[in-house]
Amino acid sequence: MADQTRTSVNRNQRIILFPIPFQGHINPMLQLANILYSKGFNITILHTNFNAPKASNYPHFTFQSILDNDPENKSSVSRDIHTFAQNLLFKQDGAELAFREELKLLLSSRNDGHVLCLITDALWHFTQSVADSLNLPRLVLRTSSLFCTIVYASIPVLDDLGYFKLSDNNHLEKLVPEFPVLKLKDIVKMGLKGKKDPVAELIGNMVKNMKTSSGIIWNSFKELEESEIETILDKFPVPNFLIPFPKYITAASSSLLELDRTCFPWLDQQPPNSVLYVSFGSIGQVEVKDHLEIAHGLVDSKQPFLWVVRPGFVNGSTWLEALPDGLMGEGGRVVKWVPQQEVLAHKAIGAFWTHSGWNSTLESVCEGVPMICSPFRSDQPLDARYVSDVSKVGVYLENGWQRDEIANAIRKIMTNKVGEEIRERSKALKQKLDASLDKGGSSYESLESLVTYISNFNFGGII
Ligand code: UDX
Repeated sequence: MADQTRTSVNRNQRIILFPIPFQGHINPMLQLANILYSKGFNITILHTNFNAPKASNYPHFTFQSILDNDPENKSSVSRDIHTFAQNLLFKQDGAELAFREELKLLLSSRNDGHVLCLITDALWHFTQSVADSLNLPRLVLRTSSLFCTIVYASIPVLDDLGYFKLSDNNHLEKLVPEFPVLKLKDIVKMGLKGKKDPVAELIGNMVKNMKTSSGIIWNSFKELEESEIETILDKFPVPNFLIPFPKYITAASSSLLELDRTCFPWLDQQPPNSVLYVSFGSIGQVEVKDHLEIAHGLVDSKQPFLWVVRPGFVNGSTWLEALPDGLMGEGGRVVKWVPQQEVLAHKAIGAFWTHSGWNSTLESVCEGVPMICSPFRSDQPLDARYVSDVSKVGVYLENGWQRDEIANAIRKIMTNKVGEEIRERSKALKQKLDASLDKGGSSYESLESLVTYISNFNFGGII
């Protein structure tokens, strides 16, 4: 990790941060902004008007909208992440130009203190050339795991080997020789058509521009992904910083949806470790038949549950109307959106059935809660495999949505001996994480190095 001498920060030093406008990306960027603010830096958040963060929750930050101010502008963002990714690729010139102009304006204003650097989501790859042309250091925030990013950097190789096009009769249960942790079906489940897939091209650009950035900030910690660090340093030979954001601040204040806190009085009445928390993130969608399998699996498990059904989660339904009346019974609660980390931290929660998005995974690890993993696509199948087979703090529901398997997995993790062992390992991992935050610990030192590294930037401003 970066090795620098420490310096103190003065409040006149400003950092500009630029998140991708989706919940799973906004949360870690705003958490990072808060952490850096607590270290003494001034903060400016560049944001699109689409999914803009709630500025009133951050009176101590400056907010500046960018890119989609003009509805005619070709760089206007899309409301769907896959179209958004394609727009980013194909309309890159428009976005790059607009970004350059607005960044230049911001940098020439002298009122807001001395700008030290830009931190963007790694997916905003075109910001690297803009930053380079202005001699402004650009660090990236990578919102997924180290392991996922190593696999992403190998997409062209995996495609040349034909893995993305394998079908059911191609031994999908076999291990991937290049990544023996993974099964071939995990690669297929990423949902890419190969290296020419627009999302794969976006990832390729992201990887290329991470390598030439001034540094990479990961929402992770050394003890979780120790076996990946050497490969990361080899593939991305820039300063790398691993900081577990949820340990410093929760993501509640950057929630785009209203938070329902009415579950807490109910949780308070449940015995310790008795409730299964269920949530499948901010983007994934299921068909009605799968929604029914999930509901039946939950009921059949006979374990108390708290289930987040995000409006829009069920394709073609607004919320729960596809479920037969009375199906859910009295055994659990169904809500639209909650302050997830606070729920995970509640003593009544015994396990988390998750889609294995990276934020959810890390939040669960931070609270020592074992997981049942049901990934949709992209990095999620990789995170699920890592959680179940490397960290061994969860079980992977590998065969999709089937009520019997669901009920069995829930009973396994909530009630039987295997579940107890997984719980023990989750607690042990949390203890290692907690120790890493102490002076001299890996996360503590990584954050201190980042602060020192940024403080030493000497951006001369725009002439
Ligand atoms: C997406 C991808 O799915 C994920 O793999 C990638 O790492 C980031 O972008 P998303 O589906 O949003 O993420 O999942 P995740 O990364 O887990 O982020 C969800 C966020 O929403 C978490 O921070 C979680 O705390 C929050 N959340 C979820 C709530 O605040 N309330 C809820 O009820 C559910």
